[in-house]
Amino acid sequence: MAITHDGATRTSNAKLLKWVDEIAALTQPDHVVWCDGSEEEYQRLCAEMVASGTFVKLNPEKRPNSYLACSHPSDVARVEDRTFICSVNKEDAGPTNNWAPPDEMRAQLKELMNGCMKGRTLYVIPFSMGPIGSPIAQIGIEITDSPYVVTNMRIMTRMGSKVLEVLGSDGFFVPCVHSVGAPLAPGQKDVPWPCEPDIGRKAIVHFPETREIWSYGSGYGGNALLGKKCLALRIASSMARDEGWLAEHMLILGLESPKGEKTYVAAAFPSACGKTNLAMIVPPKGFGNWKALTVGDDIAWIKPAADGTLRAINPEAGFFGVAPGTSYDSNPMAMESCKANSIFTNVVLTDDGDVWWEGMGVAAPAHGIDWQGNDWTPDCGRVGAHANSRFTAPAAQCPTIDPAWEDPAGVPISAFIFGGRLSKTFPLVYQAFDWNHGVFMAATMGSEATAAAIGVTGIRRDPFAMLPFCGYNMADYWGHWVKMGQRTDIKLPMIFRTNWFRKGPDGKFVWPGYGQNMRVLKWIVERVNGQVGAVESSFGLMPRYEDLDLEGLEFSKGQFETITSINRAEAISEVEEIKTFFDKFGAQLPPELEKQRQEFGKRAEKAPEVWSVAEAA
Ligand code: GTP
Ligand code: SPV
Ligand code: MN
Repeated sequence: MAITHDGATRTSNAKLLKWVDEIAALTQPDHVVWCDGSEEEYQRLCAEMVASGTFVKLNPEKRPNSYLACSHPSDVARVEDRTFICSVNKEDAGPTNNWAPPDEMRAQLKELMNGCMKGRTLYVIPFSMGPIGSPIAQIGIEITDSPYVVTNMRIMTRMGSKVLEVLGSDGFFVPCVHSVGAPLAPGQKDVPWPCEPDIGRKAIVHFPETREIWSYGSGYGGNALLGKKCLALRIASSMARDEGWLAEHMLILGLESPKGEKTYVAAAFPSACGKTNLAMIVPPKGFGNWKALTVGDDIAWIKPAADGTLRAINPEAGFFGVAPGTSYDSNPMAMESCKANSIFTNVVLTDDGDVWWEGMGVAAPAHGIDWQGNDWTPDCGRVGAHANSRFTAPAAQCPTIDPAWEDPAGVPISAFIFGGRLSKTFPLVYQAFDWNHGVFMAATMGSEATAAAIGVTGIRRDPFAMLPFCGYNMADYWGHWVKMGQRTDIKLPMIFRTNWFRKGPDGKFVWPGYGQNMRVLKWIVERVNGQVGAVESSFGLMPRYEDLDLEGLEFSKGQFETITSINRAEAISEVEEIKTFFDKFGAQLPPELEKQRQEFGKRAEKAPEVWSVAEAA
């Protein structure tokens, strides 16, 4: 049967046309549809997915123009074990990435993808990461057999015919092939969430040298929305190394003081560790007249400008945020962002056609349908929403979106913040002594596992929050950061580490977190502007109790002590553990980082058994 094409005349790009033909010949869909990104197209796809059972249309009075999708239980998060960086040389992928010889992987992909779209429609999605036509934007074309992916990409990226216009007849694009890996035999009935249920047969593959992405078997999040982790982090980090910029797993936040001075910070936290929360922070009541404005919540592309500032853009156009725990208390701006025109995945459907999740801050419905499609009641003993359930919402709907969020020139970054999820040892906040110390602090960041990835447990090092997202050798990536610091044409931001997650003897978080993190941000802004003091510890420069603006918050000196004291034995064992970690990188490890480790070791040895800010000050 001949494949029917719809809209193929929308491009004159010969390379694109040839590639689409090749992929169509390989995957053998029934139809090819070139997406134009229009509202009509979005509505048509949503209606088709409602008819097929993939989407449930939510009650328009409660949640206008919004839908719920529930995935197959095998397909709920990124699959790090099945994510590959297939550089020509194994060393270029480094010890933290999965690698396979590119030729072997290509052969495997050809086999997996052969006929994999039978009975389905192949969609061609032209998308721009960054404002369309901006000199820093990158164009990608995703081929997918998932209409769910098309609708999510329309929220998460700038998508459609305008991108093809900018691409022109010979523009560069990153080719991204995606299939859910579930061909249909003639007459076979489709399921609501087609995918390859065997995790061992899923594969998320990157060829960094040829800037290609191939993804098979999963329809979920970063596995399938290929502009996000695959292009904007793994491929872009590789481009950034070659071209002298940074592609980072960072939120971007603007902080305006009562005097009207604006300071932008970029902050890296591992997956599900609070980027979306911090990106949309609302300063606590009574906290002066500080304003916080959102530029991005997950990814930053950062480039040196002619005046030496590092300028950051958010390459995305939407938020793919963790639902559980998001409430009008913890993150009101996220709740406002997903009030309408949003897609929810793997949360509870209430009987009145709205969505619900654990920690939403409203009473659980007496009855609902859980993410696995079962009847659910609050006392049934199971959670209703999957721990990695998400909302997909347009960034423009965020009430605190920064006026400059789409400025192609980006916003100037004055500070980098790195924050792990660590129950002990690590203080609330500390500043690096200098750039290389900051790179060391970021490179050695540890974090406890979350639900954002399948099969990850315990504490692991998550350097720069980039462990699953660095498209090349992690040690070379550190070297790239060290090199950025040696450039004389760049005004270097200050570097900080934070830890909202330190627990007390009762096993509870001591620091109230969320909006109260504004108090830590204020100290950071004041450090940047040279307006506040700090005390030297073995970890870095730290605020005294009186340096933090704690007005209006009941937070005692004793509590402050609990989350800022440094145990000498723990610090020394950290120095040792970093040695084991660094040894994995062999000769690729930048000598600057081993030097930092040794200096940290000397400081730790010299420190008292339990170091306290109050005693040091
Ligand atoms: P990805 O989208 O996966 O990259 O992650 P993210 O960093 O944007 O994650 P998100 O902001 O959705 O993280 C949410 C998790 O962080 C939830 O478990 C929250 O409870 C927790 N969290 C966020 N901020 C704080 C905080 O200040 N204190 C504490 N204790 N937990 C926090
Ligand atoms: C993350 O895991 O860091 C995410 C979600 O931002 S996903 O896009 O699924 O990777
Ligand atoms: Mn992320």
